[in-house]
Amino acid sequence: MKLVIIVGSVREGRFGPSVASWFAAQAGEHFDLDVLDLAEISLPSALPSNAMALRDVTGRPAEMRALAARLDAADAFVVVTPEYNHSFPASLKHLIDWHFTQWQAKPIGFVSYGGHGGGLRSVEQLRLVFAELHAATVRETVSFDRHWEKFGADGLLIDATGPNAAAKVLLDHLAWWAQALAEARAVRPYEAGAA
Ligand SMILES: Cc1cc2nc3c(=O)[nH]c(=O)nc-3n(C[C@H](O)[C@H](O)[C@H](O)COP(=O)(O)O)c2cc1C
Repeated sequence: MKLVIIVGSVREGRFGPSVASWFAAQAGEHFDLDVLDLAEISLPSALPSNAMALRDVTGRPAEMRALAARLDAADAFVVVTPEYNHSFPASLKHLIDWHFTQWQAKPIGFVSYGGHGGGLRSVEQLRLVFAELHAATVRETVSFDRHWEKFGADGLLIDATGPNAAAKVLLDHLAWWAQALAEARAVRPYEAGAA
């Protein structure tokens, strides 16, 4: 099973990569990994005028088709997201909106971080967005409130015991959904329009 870990923040001096690299180390035992760092990709700021164009990537430039192929290859996603003004970053929404079939009938887990809320407001909002895209979000989350108290200056967790245990629960459930939905898609391709 392939897991695409999406690093959602692109801010200068961002903390996201520290969280993502810790999580990737946990996830490697459960999945083949592809870490998609949104700071390393570029998408046009304007979405196409026709929503159907979001469903067919064949006319896109090679770099965009390669990005869509990475998302297509995923059996599961984990979104690593901070919280900006009680929501998730625009960079993440832009990636989501540029794609459609890539999310469908696949499980999505969340690892969040931020101030007092630990990014959980971002996660709750992302669940609504992904429901619109026919994705299945996993209940369990890993959340770091006040992450600057939990990671050292070296970018590593000071005490990894609790987070590692939470990551395992998330990954166990994500792996179940990834397998189940991959089998279901193979038997009966998912159609977004189907009842
Ligand atoms: C524009 C902006 C808005 C923020 N708003 C919130 C917020 O509403 N709630 C919160 O808990 N933290 C908030 N924070 C703190 C961020 O969650 C924290 O700085 C985190 O490290 C941001 O992720 P990043 O470093 O990967 O960009 C905000 C940070 C920024 C830059």
